[in-house]
Amino acid sequence: MSAGFSVAWRVPLLVLAFASLFAGMAAGLVRLGWPFPKPIVEMALLHGPLMACGFFGTVIGLERAVALSRRWGYLAPLLSSAGAAAAIAGLPAQAAALLVALGSAVLLASSVVFYRRQRELFTLTLALGALCWLLGNLQWLAGRPIHTAVPFWIGFLVLTIAGERLELSRVLPPSAAARRVFVAALAILLGAIAWSTLAWGAGTLLLGAGMLLLALWLMRQDVARRTVKGRGLPRFIAICLLTGYGWLALSGVVIVASGGLAYSGPGYDAALHAVLLGFVFSMVFGHAPIILPAVLRVAVPYAAYFYVPLALLHLSLLLRVAGDWYVAGPWRAWGGALNGVALIAFVLGTIAAVLRGLAAKAGPRRF
Ligand code: HEM
Repeated sequence: MSAGFSVAWRVPLLVLAFASLFAGMAAGLVRLGWPFPKPIVEMALLHGPLMACGFFGTVIGLERAVALSRRWGYLAPLLSSAGAAAAIAGLPAQAAALLVALGSAVLLASSVVFYRRQRELFTLTLALGALCWLLGNLQWLAGRPIHTAVPFWIGFLVLTIAGERLELSRVLPPSAAARRVFVAALAILLGAIAWSTLAWGAGTLLLGAGMLLLALWLMRQDVARRTVKGRGLPRFIAICLLTGYGWLALSGVVIVASGGLAYSGPGYDAALHAVLLGFVFSMVFGHAPIILPAVLRVAVPYAAYFYVPLALLHLSLLLRVAGDWYVAGPWRAWGGALNGVALIAFVLGTIAAVLRGLAAKAGPRRF
């Protein structure tokens, strides 16, 4: 057995992460005006932390702990999921923020260990992503308005994904010039996030430009441009990646065209969910068949129906962003509800694939 937790210990952490996703989704729907019972309505302001920290923080922390293969690495997902559970249980937000901040400090520590093991641009990018998460959580812990943590959380997720794509591109390494452009995009993003704490408008405007540059870089450099011509799972993954990069670019364009990120209202909703839902979840859909086998030791055999949640995610997000653009409340509300349906369809589809994989492994039954 590895020096980490056995697979059986990883399941409750994933269950907590998904509880956080569903609670966060319901809290987001409350903010779009959908009726929910009182305990959910009271969680409305915790939507961002539940999604960014309770779900993504825990899942990313778990994935890194498995790769690190040290017991202490599991403290990251343990603490962030405990923070999410505290928030869902209605404990004071400060307690949840403290647990999550401690979890992100552990993720940063494990990312630094990775960087020291392998001094590469991708491990540096992953560590900088973890640093963004910690700094964003400290804003939340300090009681500052949630929107001040948002550029940091965007940095966390965008850099984590960019770092992982860079790692996978080692088969087809980018040229020296392309690496320089990547480093420039990284520097712009980090500078912009830091600047947003001093000058919100100018800092977030630069953040939008950095996101656009990174999206163009990924579209051009990612091996997905080739694998999209293949078939089956490689093609599905490539389509997830390329469409996801489109959402990252769109978010950058919306922010730049608006002269910076608003901190509430339709522009905020569109820019935030183009990146956090369109880009990040396209990556989740595409990477789940590769990551779940590593984390849970189960196969996720590909099936053509994997396209259903992906198409629903894109179409519902288009409806939502169009609703933001035309200030059409019902489009926005229905787009948001269908976003939720897309995520549920993805979870159910993945469970069905895992069960199919287990049945195939067990072989035909003898009676
Ligand atoms: C079913 C999916 C989702 C729905 C219905 C939803 C809904 C919302 C709404 C209505 C807002 C408020 C926007 C405004 O102030 O105008 C919001 C903000 C936010 N959302 Fe989502 N969202 C969803 C998915 C996500 C995902 C996947 C993330 C990933 C991290 C996310 C992160 C955030 C963040 C960080 C904020 C800002 C929080 C704040 O300012 O309090 N959302 N969301």
